[in-house]
Amino acid sequence: MNIKLSNGKTIPVEMHKVRIVQKTYLVPIDERLKAIEEGGYNTFSLRTKYIFLDMLTDSGTNAMSDNQLAAMMVSDDAYAGCESFYKLADAIKDVLGFSYVLPVHQGRAAEHLLAKVFVKAGDVIPMNYHFTTTRAHFELAGGTVLEIFTDEALNTQSTNPFKGNLDLQKFQDAIKKHGREKIPFVRMEATTNLLGGQPFSLENLREVKKIASAHNIPLVFDGSLISENAYFIKQREKKYENKSIQEIITELMSYVDIFYLSGRKSTCVRGGFIATNNKKYFEELKPWLPLYEGFLTYGGMSTKEIEAMAVGLREMTDINVASSAAEFVKYFAERLIEQKIPVVTPPGGLACHLDAKLFLPHIPQTQYPAGALSAAVYLASGIRSMERGTISTDRDRDGKEVLADLELARLAIPRRVYTMSQLEYAVERLKWLYEHRDLVKGLKFIEEPPVLRFFFGKLAALDNWGAKLTEVFKKEIGPNY
Ligand code: F0G
Repeated sequence: MNIKLSNGKTIPVEMHKVRIVQKTYLVPIDERLKAIEEGGYNTFSLRTKYIFLDMLTDSGTNAMSDNQLAAMMVSDDAYAGCESFYKLADAIKDVLGFSYVLPVHQGRAAEHLLAKVFVKAGDVIPMNYHFTTTRAHFELAGGTVLEIFTDEALNTQSTNPFKGNLDLQKFQDAIKKHGREKIPFVRMEATTNLLGGQPFSLENLREVKKIASAHNIPLVFDGSLISENAYFIKQREKKYENKSIQEIITELMSYVDIFYLSGRKSTCVRGGFIATNNKKYFEELKPWLPLYEGFLTYGGMSTKEIEAMAVGLREMTDINVASSAAEFVKYFAERLIEQKIPVVTPPGGLACHLDAKLFLPHIPQTQYPAGALSAAVYLASGIRSMERGTISTDRDRDGKEVLADLELARLAIPRRVYTMSQLEYAVERLKWLYEHRDLVKGLKFIEEPPVLRFFFGKLAALDNWGAKLTEVFKKEIGPNY
């Protein structure tokens, strides 16, 4: 919740108590250098014991509530017909309004099933932006992802409140060009993860639905960050400022044919599901569920997580939950902007994103500035971020490097996990790094996997810059931090 101070400023204040804690460690920079070098300058390769603040992702790393943990204790482990599933189905009906539910082990499993059932070779799937696993699954099924974001979406220094909007004209042009038969569905991602957690407006979704309906194209909604998108609609779309998060979600869902999510974000649980009111879609998807995920009443999730998801879904409609990450992201971004550090604006839903093209303008995209920045952030602070740029973009079918639209180092804010003083520490170390940005150079691949190379790829620092940055840090700040 934003609390107004006597000087007129506001700060986000936690509307919860922390009663279980987990120890974290800040190892000296020499150990960090060794860890990142052994890990091929890829933050995915780091072990928790070498990480101080883990801002790799907000996925599956959020603090659960007492009620979620309590619900896990009463789960029903029946293979078929487990009561935990029916609690989840009730929550999905109450919060999202859907009657048919297919639980899956996580979001990408939902994408896999949707691709398997609905995407054929030669299909084109329009969307406001891709997510890495979404694109990989749709392309593996033979489809092509068509990103039809607005011109403003790639402007990282923007005041546009809805950079996740789908461009309506481009959508209409795409239907004309490819024809309805080639478009199995249009996909809207709330909020667009790789654009920096940028939301779309309710007005935009309504218009997308109008166009889609006129051509009988189903609307698929990736709701992994649905509560954050709803919160931004409340904050940024005048007409909805007095609506509750639940009311906004209810209107959002009225335009949706097939909903899916990664439960690891808004609902603070490791799992996912597909939901719809269309019996035909449900029946088409259902036979594949036991083959790839598990029986209909657990879908590869543990029944404990199903119980926690039923609670998490209801809790995410509480404004203090829906806003918890978004307001911390905003505070973090504003503190960095005060230091003139280039971050994506407006601040988005899941993370504060450093713009690596602006932070490290001397590194060409072929030398992976976002990857270099992520590694440098780790060296300077022990904070783990995630590269979201060209390393996260696989080569095309001919093996050619595809330069990403954006080069971002993502500092995710897991919900209700980190504190204000930890954010202040992050701001201070990022300031130091920004002042020494000339020391950071590019990276080159030494081991490059063929699919989703960012997960397991190994890289090396050009000109041995990691060791040089470490030496300067030790001289200026000391060897023990
Ligand atoms: N859709 C969106 C918008 C996502 O952000 C993610 C995951 C997925 C689908 C896939 O879900 O991980 O449960 O299989 N995002 C994670 C991240 C990985 O770190 O942002 P999943």
